[in-house]
Amino acid sequence: MQQKIIILDFGSQTTQLIGRRVRELNTYCEIVPYNKFPHDDPSVIGVILSGSPFSVYDDKAFKTNINALRGKLPVLGICYGAQLMAWENGGNVESAPSREYGRARLEQVDGSNPLLTGIEKDSQVWMSHGDTITALPENFGIIASTAEVPVAAYQARGEKLWGVQFHPEVYHSECGMQLLRNFVVGICGSRCDWSAESFIESTVSELRRTLGDDKVVLGLSGGVDSTVAAVLLNKAIGKNLTCIFVDHGMLRKNEFTDVMKAYECLGLNVIGVDASAEFFEALAGVTDPERKRKIIGKGFIDVFDREAHKVTDVKWLAQGTIYPDCIESLSITGTVIKSHHNVGGLPEKMNLKLCEPLRLLFKDEVRAVGRALGIPDRLIKRHPFPGPGLAVRILGDITPEKVAVLQEADNIFIEGLREWDLYDKVWQAGAILLPVQSVGVMGDERTYERAVALRAVTSTDAMTADWAHLPYEFLAKVSNEIINKVRGVNRVCYDISSKPPATIEWE
Ligand code: XMP
Repeated sequence: MQQKIIILDFGSQTTQLIGRRVRELNTYCEIVPYNKFPHDDPSVIGVILSGSPFSVYDDKAFKTNINALRGKLPVLGICYGAQLMAWENGGNVESAPSREYGRARLEQVDGSNPLLTGIEKDSQVWMSHGDTITALPENFGIIASTAEVPVAAYQARGEKLWGVQFHPEVYHSECGMQLLRNFVVGICGSRCDWSAESFIESTVSELRRTLGDDKVVLGLSGGVDSTVAAVLLNKAIGKNLTCIFVDHGMLRKNEFTDVMKAYECLGLNVIGVDASAEFFEALAGVTDPERKRKIIGKGFIDVFDREAHKVTDVKWLAQGTIYPDCIESLSITGTVIKSHHNVGGLPEKMNLKLCEPLRLLFKDEVRAVGRALGIPDRLIKRHPFPGPGLAVRILGDITPEKVAVLQEADNIFIEGLREWDLYDKVWQAGAILLPVQSVGVMGDERTYERAVALRAVTSTDAMTADWAHLPYEFLAKVSNEIINKVRGVNRVCYDISSKPPATIEWE
């Protein structure tokens, strides 16, 4: 049986990070809302309580009966999680008169405590809460302190129940990984057998069992997630998988043919559908960004639905949905928000059963699984690309001629990034066709042509992003090449806006 750690989510921004750290310890974990502990699951070996934006004494604070787990499973409370267990058992939590935010150092450490094995006095930890535990319940004891926070870590005496006021999951807590390892491996007894290979092996046999001889369709986009899902399914059910790759006409230069070739090399059964003419027709004259997105989304569903139903007897729709898309996140109001599906509306419309083999994986794990499946790096390391493609990078209305101009400029930029070994150093990059013309001079002639913006950002999750500080020499070379080679463009700008307040895409 696959062992698992349950992370109870009380709404902290770092809950997903706790999950990733546990996975880095080759231990499977699941993040569930604070009040949805799976009491009947025998594979759970330990529980971690996350932080929260609330104070335990707030009326609206998320509460659940943690004591129901005492004596049954090892429990580690982090920040609010630690405060909650202290509070619920008769301790006291108060807004701290002198708050210790950010970096702090452990001044006292009980190195003999199993949670703190190998953690040195003076080691740096990261604090992030306005509250502090001012009195512990009777049978709880302090096991670590900082200058400002006497109860930096505690244990309920004789019980497998710990709390830490700091955040071991964040990079700035030097001893954080050691502490989590002590808990997950030392205390909970993880076998550390969660790996890309073990995932592939168990998922392939589970897919075979669930799908039997059923036929499955899957929409490929050229992106990492759908590619890995397809190769995994292909390994499990071979010919019963039909992949459909829709060209809406707004992909990058040569992308459709290049990606189709790569898919064929991977042995996938792919139907490529050139639907560009119908998309261009539907988009003619449309300038509003949201309308463009809706038209493309609906068009995609219609084309996919039509092609998928040409496959006889199809029963399942497979999608490359990944874990961050599935985690139910808690908003501050307490409402549970379920984030988007990969292709909004498709499962409902098609009346097929849904198969999501990557729904348990974080993005970096999807890449590791892809590598273990033998997918080439060029596919695995591809930058994210928006579903509506270049349509949201052409400001104003879309015509095939504008797409062709943008494809050329974009291609010079992206190939340049590859040549200069910069491609893997940025999160994503692309060119944007601006709805302005400006005066220029070429030879003896005055020109009045289009402007292109280049955008390259660094990021870890696309939620925030900084503009990439690309070398001037590189930008000069790309700008020159675009202006010289792409007819109709006489000016190139570089976008130096961060997100927030700007977004990565211009539309
Ligand atoms: P923004 O522009 O919101 O983009 O900062 C964040 C990330 O999402 C991608 N993106 C999209 N992906 N359909 C997609 O599949 C879309 O409509 C869409 N809009 C933005 C964007 O490329 C970036 O990676």
